[in-house]
Amino acid sequence: MKIFALPGNTLLARNITRHLGAELGAFTVRHFPDGESYVRLLCDVEGQQAVVVCTLFQPDDKILPLYYLSRLLKDSGAQSVTLVAPYLAYMRQDKVFNPGEAVTSEYFAALLSSAVDRLITIDPHLHRHVSMSEIYTIPCKAIHAAQLVSDWIRQNVVNPVLIGPDSESEQWVSEVAAKAGAPFLILEKVRHGDHDVDVSKPVVEPYSNHTPVLVDDIISTAHTMIETVGHLRVAGMAAPVCIGVHPVFAGNAYDDLVGAGAAEVVSCNTIQHSSNRIDVSELLATAISE
Ligand code: R5P
Repeated sequence: MKIFALPGNTLLARNITRHLGAELGAFTVRHFPDGESYVRLLCDVEGQQAVVVCTLFQPDDKILPLYYLSRLLKDSGAQSVTLVAPYLAYMRQDKVFNPGEAVTSEYFAALLSSAVDRLITIDPHLHRHVSMSEIYTIPCKAIHAAQLVSDWIRQNVVNPVLIGPDSESEQWVSEVAAKAGAPFLILEKVRHGDHDVDVSKPVVEPYSNHTPVLVDDIISTAHTMIETVGHLRVAGMAAPVCIGVHPVFAGNAYDDLVGAGAAEVVSCNTIQHSSNRIDVSELLATAISE
């Protein structure tokens, strides 16, 4: 088995490689002056299993080099190509919200399914699609960070109450809360635009002595969490800990969330970020080896 780390994935890929006792595959990817991608394989993969690690935030820049490398590995004789995409993009546009819109979750799934033999990801945003097989035609393994997140909460937060900012988050929050042995609340969210969300006010009276812990799968603009942090502060709760599995943090989102009054912002290293406190590399290594 050889592990190939696309740019930005080296740290995680090294850790996965160490857990597996595998080796990193050598290749070059760069851009020509005109912006086209250049990809060259620098090792033998004949008859071997190739694992490509490429987390897919800001996916449009990443998809072509990933596609070219995957095709090249197959053409060079790799027995199989597995994509490890700890964060899987394009899962949120999962229906036509307004007439004429592309359901990009389906188109993106078709593209990836044509390039690789199987896919491993962490907590994909399954909402209206209930399983990966609805849109992906290759075998997919969706693994969950809930145990790792609950371990972190147990070790670092005194008397937590978990808060999910919308109904979609219930699947993650309820599981993390059960594993952490903590109570949880689920709020209601209405999204009016990319940066404009309303989140319902939590009923916090029974939890006035608890430490609020917001848990969501993705933090992108952070407006979902910022709204919720605001409600908690107005209600007189302690400054909350904000945990996202996938720290997408578009633009100034991280600074905005810290500025809004989060006591601490914590994430999994599905995307490399300064808030990474929870390491998923062993979880991924286990999924690859299974
Ligand atoms: C969507 O429903 C997700 O679970 C997150 O709540 C959402 O992606 C967060 O987005 P943002 O950080 O832009 O508010």
